[in-house]
Amino acid sequence: YKNLKPFPKDFLWGASTSAYQVEGAWNEDGKGPSVIDMGRYPEGTSDFKVASDHYHRYKEDVALFAEMGLKAYRFSIAWTRIYPNGVGELNQKGIEFYNNLINELLSYNIEPIVTMYHFDLPYAIQQKGGWTNKETIDAFENYAKTLFEHFGDRVKYWLTINEQNMMILHGEAIGVVSSDIKNAQKELYQQNHHMLLAQAKAMKLCHKMCPDAMIGPAPNIASVYPASCNPEDVLAASNLSSIRNWLYLDAAVFGRYNSVAWSYMEEKGYTPIVYENDMDILKAGKPDFIAFNYYSTLTAAKYKDESQSDNSASDQQMEMSEPGVYQGVPNPYLQKTEFGWEMDPVGFRNTLREIYERYNLPLLVTENGLGAYDKLEEGEVINDDYRIDFLRKHIEQARLAITDGVNLIGYCPWSAIDLVSTHQGISKRYGFIYVNRDEFDLKDLRRIRKKSFYWYKDVIKSNGEKL
Ligand code: BG6
Repeated sequence: YKNLKPFPKDFLWGASTSAYQVEGAWNEDGKGPSVIDMGRYPEGTSDFKVASDHYHRYKEDVALFAEMGLKAYRFSIAWTRIYPNGVGELNQKGIEFYNNLINELLSYNIEPIVTMYHFDLPYAIQQKGGWTNKETIDAFENYAKTLFEHFGDRVKYWLTINEQNMMILHGEAIGVVSSDIKNAQKELYQQNHHMLLAQAKAMKLCHKMCPDAMIGPAPNIASVYPASCNPEDVLAASNLSSIRNWLYLDAAVFGRYNSVAWSYMEEKGYTPIVYENDMDILKAGKPDFIAFNYYSTLTAAKYKDESQSDNSASDQQMEMSEPGVYQGVPNPYLQKTEFGWEMDPVGFRNTLREIYERYNLPLLVTENGLGAYDKLEEGEVINDDYRIDFLRKHIEQARLAITDGVNLIGYCPWSAIDLVSTHQGISKRYGFIYVNRDEFDLKDLRRIRKKSFYWYKDVIKSNGEKL
């Protein structure tokens, strides 16, 4: 391009976190346990009980976000702080905490972007069947109503459910599927159906209760490349994309099931029970924008039995191997992070274009980032040049996508501050701000600005001109 378009003037330069990964105070001030609190942690990694202690240090943290120049902060509300049992008695202390956090952000002109539910389903709800139980739809709607009532006067950007597609594809990992069921996949697609209905109801309610606010889904979306131009590989990539990406967004935006994903569920015997009114409920919920998390792309080939033993594929790629449908394979053109995740900045542009062309709605990136073993060096410095390099390349591609015509309204990398990674503990750091603790030694939890902090500050100040 000779003429790169600039980032829009009111672009939401932000950063993200989620409640259970950053807050700590897991059982304080009336908070009930979530599936995360009651879950198992991968061996050798910490639990989420203290995390980054943001619950007690939010003022200091928000001051640092302001110093970095953040225009927006994407965080999640812990359902169990508001309703310790998911439904029933409201916990006033929980309302108070998020009121304080929101007010603190607004005092620095930082726009709050709120995820309503980021993996941490109330344990009490899980015990009653979790998302398999239809009543959870009402529980979510009731929770959503409470959020709009208490925070809707100040929060203008709402995200319904974080990475619903990952919860379905990795159900066991997040503890959303009960252990003793015969057909876990079928149960997961039933849960998915209920989550879609809950989301549609929340979107409708938001429009009624907070007419100036915007609400949207927040799945993890990634372009899927065919491993070659063999039409069979192209077909496999298309299958994976429908099952992993479009199933979720077609339902959220168009209020219908993606046809390829539906016939896949039929073929495998996974179709959910759909009651008469359900499709009307789905249609009645409309998002105002699409938020999505992007870490990398995926590559798919025609399913081959022998390739099952290919263990060079990362966790991410292993998510996708479905007999007869597709086979996830590594992409030889991409380098990997220390944690084995492929890095694909150009894929970010591809993904942005693909989503925008398909749905024509404003896009908001709610996660993108690099997990690494950062090192605190003498003189209180963390030289995370690799993170700067990663983010720079992605921001460059975001700008190209804007030049391509994509209506991108914001970019919120993961994560604003170090937090406990969902799968690999605190040692896998993502933040602009270092938190001084180890996996099991909490040390003093002090905050230290990384090199990327100063870099991102300049990026924001120059509205993306200075990378
Ligand atoms: C996303 C989640 O899946 O990826 C975050 O929304 C998570 O909660 C992030 O932390 C990175 O994954 P991980 O496993 O490296 O923490």
